[in-house]
Amino acid sequence: MKKILIIHSSVDGQTEKICSYIKRIYDVSFKVKIASFDDEKENILTDFDLIIIGASIRYGKYRPNVIKFVNKNYKILNKIPNAFFSVNVVARKENKSSAETNPYVQKFLLLSKWKPLNLAVFAGKIDYPNYSLLNKYIILFIMFLTDGPKDTTESFEFTNWGKVDLFAKNVLRSLET
Ligand SMILES: Cc1cc2nc3c(=O)[nH]c(=O)nc-3n(C[C@H](O)[C@H](O)[C@H](O)COP(=O)(O)O)c2cc1C
Repeated sequence: MKKILIIHSSVDGQTEKICSYIKRIYDVSFKVKIASFDDEKENILTDFDLIIIGASIRYGKYRPNVIKFVNKNYKILNKIPNAFFSVNVVARKENKSSAETNPYVQKFLLLSKWKPLNLAVFAGKIDYPNYSLLNKYIILFIMFLTDGPKDTTESFEFTNWGKVDLFAKNVLRSLET
């Protein structure tokens, strides 16, 4: 049975949720392991047939350990079928919802020595009730500027699960080559 590794960089859990969703799709036919960058081990990449990395954006950036990890391991990553996806709320906008048009996917490609075989971007979640006061008001301010939801008593999940589904299935094609 082929083995798949899915690694996430997730602060509030939405990227992790997307990874778990992809895992459930793959579980039927593959042996799937999910790992977090936070408990990343030195040789975690060995022994897998496909590797998927998902990372969220906070204040315009990926967490530093994401870029550090991919740049350290890009040679191994380039040898195995692979995929990367970014999670951010800018991607809720139609004109920023593809890998080609999303600024954070483009930013990743600039910073990373690894050039992923498959790329995607998914809109994340705004989770006002669970934010610290400071983050709540900063996100609210950004939502005023970008015409997003402003009810701070609510959470807003923008993730298009059909798009995640399609991505998960498309990525499997790279296992066939
Ligand atoms: C403090 C904070 C800063 C954020 N900054 C950005 C940003 O600069 N651009 C953006 O598109 N989304 C931004 N987001 C939205 C997150 O990318 C989105 O909530 C995503 O679902 C987070 O994924 P995670 O739960 O896996 O960390 C921010 C969210 C928070 C809480």
